[in-house]
Amino acid sequence: MIVCSCNVLSDSQIRSAIASGTPCARLKQVYTSLCCAAKCGRCARAIKAILEDHKQAPMKVGSPEAADAAASISSS
Ligand code: FES
Repeated sequence: MIVCSCNVLSDSQIRSAIASGTPCARLKQVYTSLCCAAKCGRCARAIKAILEDHKQAPMKVGSPEAADAAASISSS
């Protein structure tokens, strides 16, 4: 599902970036890790929710969930 329409970022891409170990504790770091920047900001709440989900149930690098997320990035 596309979370950020300005940068065409999916929730899978965001979850994969967070799980990759790239510093993504802050919203700005999420955009930076995906080589983009916030534009309109409408996606901020959704990305923050994904960050919160990750804090509560981290996706490990190499896990099936991370592999699925990585596959979705390579196919987009
Ligand atoms: S929807 Fe993400 S910056 Fe506009």
